[in-house]
Amino acid sequence: MGKPRILSGVQPTGNLHLGNYLGAILNWVEGQSQYDNFFCVVDLHAITVPHNPATLAPDTYTIAALYLACGIDLNDSTIFIQSHISAHSELTWLLNCITPINWLQDMIQFKEKAIKQGENVSAGLLDYPVLMAADILLYDADKVPVGEDQKQHIELTRDIAVRFNHLFGRDEPILKLPEPLIRQEGARVMSLADGTRKMSKSDPSDLSRINLLDTPEEITRKIKRCKTDSIRGLELDNLERPECRNLLTLYGILANKPKQTVIAECQDMGWGQFKPLFTETVIEALRPIQERYQVIIEDRASLESVLRQGRERAEAVAVATLDRVKQALGYSRPL
Ligand code: AMP
Ligand code: TRP
Repeated sequence: MGKPRILSGVQPTGNLHLGNYLGAILNWVEGQSQYDNFFCVVDLHAITVPHNPATLAPDTYTIAALYLACGIDLNDSTIFIQSHISAHSELTWLLNCITPINWLQDMIQFKEKAIKQGENVSAGLLDYPVLMAADILLYDADKVPVGEDQKQHIELTRDIAVRFNHLFGRDEPILKLPEPLIRQEGARVMSLADGTRKMSKSDPSDLSRINLLDTPEEITRKIKRCKTDSIRGLELDNLERPECRNLLTLYGILANKPKQTVIAECQDMGWGQFKPLFTETVIEALRPIQERYQVIIEDRASLESVLRQGRERAEAVAVATLDRVKQALGYSRPL
């Protein structure tokens, strides 16, 4: 038996922020030696909402470079671009035909995004979770490390796999059921502008998030202006102080300090004392990532070579699963 398989991905829409880093990528990095990992940049998902063709490819490369800069190790992991492997689109079509529409209409993220978009919601936005299911099922993934907001999509992936196996897996299951892998802390990083909303790429205000590639000046400005409260002393566990809870949690993770240490250190502080400390911690935590990123993004040939090898390894696995699925569905072999 080899190591259990991991698959995960991030969309190339805008920059990665602290939520993506702590909710997803740090999780990938920390566990990677225990698993056989596949990490993709999910650029097919990026066009489910209106997108800019001029930035799609550069943004895709930026995300791949950030995976490496954050510490993804090619000895344990394969990095690739989703649209480079057509099996993702093809399996999506096959799974579409066994997925009830009402399962998709019930997805929280679809409802939220559809409301935000108003008119012209595409069929692709509704179908987004089936494409995600195809991403996961193609690799027979055992675990899918994501932030809390993606849990429902992984449950749907399991439902689709169960249904497929029930309908077409006559003697043995065709598709493997994946489990979500969600960390305890950092699974839901909140907006700097409102501690009750999650930090998000789609928030119109850039002040609401800290991006991994923000300069020290930008980070300082954002933290200076972030929302706080007027209660004396700082607390980590008070649900009625969402901003305080969020900022102290982020501080603890980025400074690598356990909860009790953060509580003891900050309980008598005011915001005027905490904010400079937090600012320094964020800047120092991101500095090595940003330095590695610059080196990687400037060496385009090496990055392309990583992605080419990634595609080859990933495609071999994906094509084998797709064949299995097509055979179960009764297709004739291509001549
Ligand atoms: P996305 O930005 O939607 O492509 O998300 C990529 C990954 O980051 C997914 O695993 C999400 O669950 C995770 N993620 C996005 N926003 C947050 C957040 N505010 N807190 C924690 N994880 C997040
Ligand atoms: N839907 C995920 C998100 O927005 C991105 C994603 C696409 C993904 N395919 C995936 C995550 C497969 C994990 C596994 O965050």
